[in-house]
Amino acid sequence: MAPTEPPLHVVLVCFPGQGHINPFLRLANLLSSHGLRVTFVINLSTARQMKSLSPSSPSAGAAAVHFDFFEDGQDEESIKRVPLDHLLTLLEHAGRKALPQMVQNYAEAGNPVSCFVSNPFIPWVSDVASSLDIPCAVLWIQSCASFTTYYHFHNKLAPFPTAQDPERDVVLPGMPLLKHDEVPSFLHPTTPYPFLATSILQQFAHLGNVFCVLMETFEELEPEVIRHVSTFCKVKPVGPLWLSARASAGPGDLIQADNDCVGWLDGQLPGSVVYISMGSIVAMTAEQRAEMAHGLLGSGMPFLWVARPTMDEGDDPDLGLPEGLEERGKVVRWAPQEEVLGHVAVACFVTHCGWNSTLEAIGAGKPVVAFPQWGDQVTDAKFLEEVFRVGVRMGRGDTWTKLVRREEVERCLREVTVGPRAEEMKENAARWKREAEAAVKPGGSSERNVREFVEEVKKRSVRRKTKTATL
Ligand code: UDX
Repeated sequence: MAPTEPPLHVVLVCFPGQGHINPFLRLANLLSSHGLRVTFVINLSTARQMKSLSPSSPSAGAAAVHFDFFEDGQDEESIKRVPLDHLLTLLEHAGRKALPQMVQNYAEAGNPVSCFVSNPFIPWVSDVASSLDIPCAVLWIQSCASFTTYYHFHNKLAPFPTAQDPERDVVLPGMPLLKHDEVPSFLHPTTPYPFLATSILQQFAHLGNVFCVLMETFEELEPEVIRHVSTFCKVKPVGPLWLSARASAGPGDLIQADNDCVGWLDGQLPGSVVYISMGSIVAMTAEQRAEMAHGLLGSGMPFLWVARPTMDEGDDPDLGLPEGLEERGKVVRWAPQEEVLGHVAVACFVTHCGWNSTLEAIGAGKPVVAFPQWGDQVTDAKFLEEVFRVGVRMGRGDTWTKLVRREEVERCLREVTVGPRAEEMKENAARWKREAEAAVKPGGSSERNVREFVEEVKKRSVRRKTKTATL
C-alpha cells in the first residue's frame, strides 16, 4: 500500500500584539477545520503570557491547532516593556534564525511546510519563505481601505499630505474622499510614530514575495475598494474571522478577562448598556477618563467599561473615577469582547475603532460611538459613520492633546441610542450583521474565498513536489 500523504501544513507566524493574535488564532482554527495541519508560531515570551492565563489556552486548547515558539531572549514581564521599534528588530533577528530550523524539524517529523502565512509587522517571514522556496501568504488584519491607502502611498500613486501641504485631501480609486485626518495617521507628516509607517510599508515592499493577501474583511462590506485592489493584487477577503471561527477559537488573551461581566450583563435590560473599550494598546489619560465617566453619568445609561491606566501611570493605580460611578456600571481591565458585543443587553459600543473591534461591532450588529486615536482607526471611524452608517464620531484621532468633554460624550451616546437617527443606525447595524453572517456561511463570499485559498495551497504543494521530483 502506498504511504499516506501528510496533510497540507500551513505555518502561521504571528506578530505578538492582541490585535494580531486574535485574527491569527481565528484563521488557524478555520484552516484547521478545512483539514489542514496548522501550526501557530509566535515568540516564546508572548506565548508564556498567553499560556499563563488559562488552562485551556493555546498549547492545551484548540486541539487541532499546533503551537510552536521561538526564543526571543525576553521573559513575560520584560517583553511588555520593549519599545515597539526595538521589538520589531528583536523579532526579525530571532525569527530569521529560528524559522529555517523549525521548517527542517517539521520536515524531519514528516510534516513538511506547504505554506507560510505572515502579517504586516513581520514582512521578513516572506523573505525566509522565499529563500526556502515555500509559498507565502499574508493575513492583512486591517480594512481593505487601509490596505489600498498604504499601497498608494508606498508606490507614490497619489498625492498625500506633506509637511508643506498637511491638509491635503486624498483621492483614491474605489474609495470615498479621505480628508487629511482620515488617512491612516502614521502616513501624516506630523505623526509621532513615523517608524510605524516605515514598518507597515515594508509589507508593501515585500508584496512580490506573497502569492495571496488574505484579508480580515468581507466582499459585501467594502465591495468597490476590494474590486479595485483585486486589479493589482491577489486578495481574498475571508472575514469576519471571529464569526466563522467563533466556536473553536482558542483564548489568546494577553490580559485576564473579567468573566463576571457577562453575568452582570445578564442582569441588565435588553438594549440598555453602553460598552466602552479602547482595544489592547490605547489607554485614556486620567483627564479623559474623568470626562468619559461624567459623560456616562450624564447619559443615565448603565455601562460596562474596559479601563486601564496609561503606561505612565504605572501598573495598577487607582483609576481616579468619580465616586458613585461603580453603582451605575461595571469597570473592568479586560472583557470577553465577542461575548459582550453579542449580548442582548448591549445597546452600543464606544470604540477606538481598531479594525478587529470594528468588525466585531459589525458582525454583532451594534451601533458605535467612534473614538479613534491613531493609525487606521481614523479611517475606520470615517467608514463606520459615513459608509457603513452605524455610528457617530466622537473625535477625529490623534486626540492625545484634544480632550473630548463630558457634554460631547453624553451627546454622542444619545445620538446613537435615542431618536430617528439612532433607529436608522440600529437598522443598518442589523443589516450588516446579517451580511457578515451570510459571508461566512457555506457558499458565502468569505467561505468560498477560504476554500479557494486551501485549493491554491494544495495546487502549489503538488507543483513543488513535481518540481522536486523532476530535479
Ligand atoms: C491594533 C491597532 O491598534 C489597530 O488600529 C489595528 O486596526 C489592529 O491592531 P488594537 O488597538 O488592539 O489593535 O484594537 P483591535 O483591532 O480592536 O483589537 C483588539 C482585540 O482585543 C479585539 O479582538 C477585541 O475583541 C479584543 N479585546 C479588547 C478583548 O477581547 N477584550 C477587551 O477588553 C478589549
